[in-house]
Amino acid sequence: MPSDIAVYGLGVMGRNIAHNMVDHGLRVTVYNRTAAVTEAFVEGLPADSTVHASYDLADLADSLARPRVVFLMATAGKVVDLVIDSLLPHLDEGDVIIDGGNSYFQDSQRRWQGLREHGIRFLGMGISGGEDGARHGPSIMPGGDPQAWPLVRDTFQRIAAKADDGEPCCRWVGEGGAGHYVKMIHNGIEYGDMQLIAEAWQLMRDGLGMAASEIAETFAQWNRGVLSSYLIEITAAILRVTDADGTPRVDHILDAAGQKGTGRWTAIDALQLGVPLTLISEAVFARTLSAMKDERVAAAQQLGGVTTGFSGDRAAMLKAIHDALYAAKIISYAQGFLQMRTAAVEYGWQLAFGEIALLWRAGCIIRSGFLDDIKKAFDRRHDLPSLLFDDFFAAALRDAAPGWREAVTLGVANGIPLPALASALSFYDGYRSATLPANLLQAQRDYFGAHTYRRTDRDPETRWHTHWSSDQTEVAIDD
Ligand code: 6PG
Repeated sequence: MPSDIAVYGLGVMGRNIAHNMVDHGLRVTVYNRTAAVTEAFVEGLPADSTVHASYDLADLADSLARPRVVFLMATAGKVVDLVIDSLLPHLDEGDVIIDGGNSYFQDSQRRWQGLREHGIRFLGMGISGGEDGARHGPSIMPGGDPQAWPLVRDTFQRIAAKADDGEPCCRWVGEGGAGHYVKMIHNGIEYGDMQLIAEAWQLMRDGLGMAASEIAETFAQWNRGVLSSYLIEITAAILRVTDADGTPRVDHILDAAGQKGTGRWTAIDALQLGVPLTLISEAVFARTLSAMKDERVAAAQQLGGVTTGFSGDRAAMLKAIHDALYAAKIISYAQGFLQMRTAAVEYGWQLAFGEIALLWRAGCIIRSGFLDDIKKAFDRRHDLPSLLFDDFFAAALRDAAPGWREAVTLGVANGIPLPALASALSFYDGYRSATLPANLLQAQRDYFGAHTYRRTDRDPETRWHTHWSSDQTEVAIDD
């Protein structure tokens, strides 16, 4: 019997996806460039397994039903192009190549276009959920060639995570690089959520002097309310782990964060699109600053570090930190969806924002109850310009704002850095400001560069210039 699909690349993610497919009754061919990895994979299978192990690409192609479907789980970047090039001589028109790695969306756009010329249908598929998700049900964000999607929809909806209502977290996102774009935004939001939780933790630890076990209990309690999410849940679990001497394991982990690049891509794209994605960008910079460990240690000696000593109402401040975390999270998602709205126009995609929220309800790293509220907001108004215009989220922000300000004030007063919580508050205040001091920026630009400005009390299209350093006369500029 021919296989339904080939999984190319048996690293941890590829291996687990292959097992997940087998569990769901699919006939799978497996291939890895290093034969020993394939051998190790099949050795672990039961004797009656239908998995076909391939050791060369001609055999891989022969083993598949037509049109062939090859699922790649390779390291994002040049490797994906090399793998695709090596597969092409073995494939026929109409066959499907799926890239399930964390590829840059512009690469997927290029591969989709390039492969079309060879008659090959390409799908760039964002997959989230880490090892466990891959094994037991990830969230899947497919994009690329719309004609390829019906051929593989059933396969991927079968192996995807299911939300509480039974819906698979796997729906068509859009053409070209849209699937990997939405995955990139997911990862940016993941960076933001993680940074916010880390800041809340530092406020509790350094601002309120709480022990790790007490903070763990607080997160566990928060996980039963509006903040309920996978990342809060694992944070509580992490804070409970101790070394043999009883000290929290987390206290012994080097405070220098790594990053593979997806958060950075999100921030770079925001800058290119002109979207104020402040929170996620701060989360990326916070990782960068954390990685400058030696310099920070030297600066702490030179400049002095965090001061501590809280004498106010601890329970009230804990509630304030909770509210700050919730409010900033709303800002982060509002910014992420704003970026997708802008990207849809710029890159020509029809993104269904409510559906994207549904995709993230289970299986992925940012899964949370909160995403149901986002879906409901887009149901109430399909063309919602921003989550901040939705009555539910607007009220939530108004309620949380006093505590949010108190928590940020605690950090500012004690030298505790809060790049995400504080920048989100500045964004909120800026977004709800009918007037901003940008008129002065315009005047300064006009002063030193004759860049012109528009006036609020005249024809809005007319541009003006003042002779600032001579007689201060103002002239209308014809383009
Ligand atoms: C997921 C994750 C995953 C990501 C890693 C590491 O959705 O399963 O987003 O795709 O690559 O979590 O990311 P960083 O190394 O950039 O933190």
